[in-house]
Amino acid sequence: MNTDATGPAFFDVVLNQRAHRYLSPDAVADSLIEQILTAATHAPSGENAQPWIFVVVRDPVVRGEVGRLVAESWTSGSSDRTAEMVPPWMHREVDHWAREGLATAPVHVVVCVDERLCHEGLWGSSIFPAVQNLLLAASALGLGSLMSTYPVAFTPQLRTMLSLPDHVHPLAVVPLGFPAKALGPPRRIPMQDKTFRERYGEAW
Ligand SMILES: Cc1cc2nc3c(=O)[nH]c(=O)nc-3n(C[C@H](O)[C@H](O)[C@H](O)COP(=O)(O)O)c2cc1C
Repeated sequence: MNTDATGPAFFDVVLNQRAHRYLSPDAVADSLIEQILTAATHAPSGENAQPWIFVVVRDPVVRGEVGRLVAESWTSGSSDRTAEMVPPWMHREVDHWAREGLATAPVHVVVCVDERLCHEGLWGSSIFPAVQNLLLAASALGLGSLMSTYPVAFTPQLRTMLSLPDHVHPLAVVPLGFPAKALGPPRRIPMQDKTFRERYGEAW
């Protein structure tokens, strides 16, 4: 096991993980992508099937088209619906991401599942732990990232642009890049408010 002090401590990373929607267009080296995806591929999965597939997209045409599809859908209805659900500051963040942040992120990691390796009922539970490892590794290396499922609405277009075979299904798109905006700590409900001792209703 590598015990070198090469990055921030684990709990500093976990407790400061945020959704980055403002990313610099500066390039991200393959060496960083490889470290991040090595962390992702060390996640658990049902029956250790490891059904994940990652497509690392740097092509500005593809990133631009994914961004255009999201922006078009966002501005023609989703924005208004989201505005009713989230606080104004979050709506502004997502609005920036949908209109330009996604397209300008220098890397899109399209996270897919190989249906031959995993029952459909386990797709999410076998893929999203890998996405969480990906997000945490990116943070540990000083990169910003975002778990996003909105682009999955455009699976037919992703399938064509990325030459995905029929047995490979996109489940998330993670834009990656160096943060262009400093974010504070995440807003989270305290663990004590979400945890019971021994049985439901017994406060921690
Ligand atoms: C399943 C899932 C889907 C998400 N999809 C999107 C998305 O499509 N677009 C987006 O801007 N954020 C998306 N998010 C990010 C959440 O909005 C974000 O994780 C949450 O608001 C917490 O943000 P914070 O870590 O910065 O506090 C998604 C998160 C999850 C877990």
